[in-house]
Parts: sequence; structure tokens; C-alpha cells
Amino acid sequence: MKGTTPQGAHGEQEAASWVRAMFGRIAPRYDLANHLLSFNIDRLWRARTVSRVRPILERPGARVLDICCGTGDLVLALAQRSGGSGAAAVFGSDFCHPMLVAAGEKIARRGANARLFESDALRLPLADASLDGLTVAFGFRNLANYEAGLREIHRVLRPGGMAAILEFSQPPNAAFAALYNFYSRRLLPRIGGWLTGSPDAYTYLPESVRKFPSPLELAEDMRRAGFRQVRFERLTGGIVALHLGER
Ligand SMILES: C[S@@+](CC[C@H](N)C(=O)[O-])C[C@H]1O[C@@H](n2cnc3c(N)ncnc32)[C@H](O)[C@@H]1O
Repeated sequence: MKGTTPQGAHGEQEAASWVRAMFGRIAPRYDLANHLLSFNIDRLWRARTVSRVRPILERPGARVLDICCGTGDLVLALAQRSGGSGAAAVFGSDFCHPMLVAAGEKIARRGANARLFESDALRLPLADASLDGLTVAFGFRNLANYEAGLREIHRVLRPGGMAAILEFSQPPNAAFAALYNFYSRRLLPRIGGWLTGSPDAYTYLPESVRKFPSPLELAEDMRRAGFRQVRFERLTGGIVALHLGER
């Protein structure tokens, strides 16, 4: 199971540094590129994630953390669903400072009730069993060690707590996969590179998706890490998969 392996990076430390620097470079244009390149469907994927963790958000006094939160779209969606009524405390974390700055500005602009902190997802500054819910959208694939990532997520969740992992995937239908691969490998690096000035980020994206475990494998890895009730659903023809599991 290993982790992400950006070209030219040797070992987990270098992979993580490469990922952090790359996201730092694209942070100012990340939202624009994201929404344009996904034709805005990314909003629906996050909305689905929020609807699946809704029972957790409705637990009185619940604490929910979105790791690898980037510019904070999922943090905002979680905070909006928790109603700002104090039903759940919503947090976001990321190890890329420019991403957190963008997230902080957006949260302030919208007057949302959510707090952010800077942290590596593999070493969260949280006590064991301190969260009711943990989400991650398009961040897990970038971790330098997936097994360590699952262990850390499992560690910080309370028994009965829920993890939701939203991540890109390979569509199971061969014809659709061919079409999607043409888009993601040929067009996306050009358009993403043009929008953000960092073509390497959008060459890395389809490469990292290709190397990422299949939904079935990830579900198995989650079970091995100790999660129960593991299930997944493919979204948009399998471009994306949403995995859920309970501690
Ligand atoms: C593709 S972005 C996704 C951002 C956001 N979750 C979204 O849905 O748009 C991936 C984010 O994961 C963060 N990230 C990657 N590896 C991380 C790690 N080990 N610890 C914390 N954040 C990490 C990056 O800094 C980046 O902001």
C-alpha cells in the first residue's frame, strides 16, 4: 500500500515536501482551476460527502475534522450543514500554509463557524479517540504513506466515529475510462497548467490517481486498519469514490 510517489521524489519525506510545495504554488488559483476543470461537479461530490456524515454532524457536541482541507470548501459545507447552531464543532487542517490562508479568508468572508490549524495529516496534534467524524476530500491520495494515514484517522476517531474519504478513482467502464483518461492526461495538464502556472501539478494529478489503490483495495485497507462497516460508492461514473468507515 505505500503512498504517493511524485516523479523525482525519493522517500516519504521528499514526497511530502514536493506535495506541500506544489500545493503552495497553486493555492491562489486552486479554486478557479478546481471548479473549471471539474465543470463544478466537485461541489456535488462534497455535498454527497456532507450528506453521508450528516448523522455525525447532528450528534450534540460532536467534533468533526476535515484533514487536507485545502482552501476549505468541505470545511464550509460541513459548517453550513451543522447549522452554526453549535450542534457540531467543525475544524479544518492542512500542512500547506498558503492553502490555510485561503481557507481562513473564505471562512471569514462567509461568516462560517469553523476553526483551522496547520498540521501534517500523518501526525495530527489530537488525542486518541477525540473526534466523532473525520473527512478528507482529494487529499488522502497525496499522503506519503496511506497505511499510516489510515492508522492516524482511526486513532483520532472515537469508537462509533465515522471517516469519509472522497478521492479520485479510475472509472470501471472501459469506454468511459478511455474518454476520462484522454481528458485527464492530455487536456487537464494543459488547462490546469495554464490556469495556475504549474503544469507539473496537473501532470501529477492523473499520475497519482493511476497509482492510487482501487476502491475495492482501499476498502480492504480500511478494514485492515480496523475500520468497521466499510463501504464505498462510485460517483460520476467512477471518476470519484467515496469511502465510509466506522471506528
Ligand atoms: C487536492 S487538495 C484538496 C483540498 C480540499 N480538500 C478540496 O477538496 O478541495 C489536497 C490538499 O491536501 C493537502 N495535503 C496533502 N498531503 C498532506 C499531509 N500529509 N498533511 C496535511 N495536508 C496534506 C495539500 O496541502 C492540499 O491542500
